[in-house]
Amino acid sequence: MSKTVLLLPGDGIGQEIIAEARKVLNWLNTQGAELTLEEGLIGGTAYDETGTPLPDETVTKAEAADAVLLGAVGGTKWETLDYSVRPERGLLGIRKALDLYCNLRPAKVHPQLADASTLKAEVVSGIDIMVVRELSSGIYFGEPKGVETLEDGTKRGYNTLTYKTGEIERIARSAFEAARKRGNKVCSVDKANVLETTELWREVVTNLHAAEYADVELSHQYVDNTAMQLIRDPKQFDVIVTTNMFGDILSDEASMLTGSIGMLPSASLGDGNALYEPIHGSAPDIAGKGVANPLATILSVAMMLKHSLDMPEMSDRIEQAVSDVLDVGLRTADIMEPGMTQVGTSVMGDAVMAALIGGPAFKAAAAPAVVPLAKPVKMKKKKMKKMKKKGKN
Ligand code: IPM
Ligand code: MG
Repeated sequence: MSKTVLLLPGDGIGQEIIAEARKVLNWLNTQGAELTLEEGLIGGTAYDETGTPLPDETVTKAEAADAVLLGAVGGTKWETLDYSVRPERGLLGIRKALDLYCNLRPAKVHPQLADASTLKAEVVSGIDIMVVRELSSGIYFGEPKGVETLEDGTKRGYNTLTYKTGEIERIARSAFEAARKRGNKVCSVDKANVLETTELWREVVTNLHAAEYADVELSHQYVDNTAMQLIRDPKQFDVIVTTNMFGDILSDEASMLTGSIGMLPSASLGDGNALYEPIHGSAPDIAGKGVANPLATILSVAMMLKHSLDMPEMSDRIEQAVSDVLDVGLRTADIMEPGMTQVGTSVMGDAVMAALIGGPAFKAAAAPAVVPLAKPVKMKKKKMKKMKKKGKN
């Protein structure tokens, strides 16, 4: 049966990486997938064209689609705009409009990249963490919020951290369900020693666990401790479940354990709606240069096939293809290491395609013979180092 996938390239490198994902989606159609691909506007690009970072039409299309694939939003160009129309509002708006409360952010080390992490290989090799971040409530959306001018002329900014029982319960349920399919361990992260809202969080998670998930191992940590434990001993974690803002922060931290944020996909799920996106941002400094890493976006397609399109075998094949291109030594700038072959965005996409089509034959042949590496992107060493330092891809 035909399924609709809405592509929202967004801003910066979003355009380039979605173009590579499109190759994979088109290939799936040659394999009988029957995907109808649509495209929509979001972020700064949407603002430039329509005056809003989230046009109604995008929401309507997203609601009707079986899945949404998003590139990235944001950029220096729009940083001076009023908060209400910043590109990021588009992303937050679509999360809220589709009630995408469950954000799955896997941090898994590809064995080929264990040396790319800034942490020792022995600390990070083999880690496989799933951060389950609450995505449609919490301090990101709580009311009241704003900045007011006080009588003395100074200002006061305020945001509100709120969670209702039901909002905590449904994300905790997602985490326990995910854990049952993995290592069967959940660590719930809060700041219950200070924040009342997260005291409630801990209570609700504990009650749900006792009532329905006693077979899953549950622990609780304060967020400051988790920030430390992720660096000290990341292998202790299986599933981490936490609030919107803590999840934002901890998932960036967890991603760096894997060496590159350019490798990590994510899924944002609601009841019936789903949006997939790479974890990284729009990287305005390298946008348009053809050097961004498209693998996180391609791996987001793999997640989409598993969670929304009911094609788990194809999902496995894409993950395998990504692993194969790493095996043959192809690297974008963000994950480049001595002795590897540096390639740009579209050659990396072509390589994944070659691996998908070629199957085991791809690895058997020397990669350059399979992929037309005629023009590998040459980047100055200094620039590469700078990018790595910034964690940009
Ligand atoms: C993320 C991003 C977003 C967030 C921004 C771009 C609004 O950092 O998806 O992690 O804070 O959720
Ligand atoms: Mg973030």
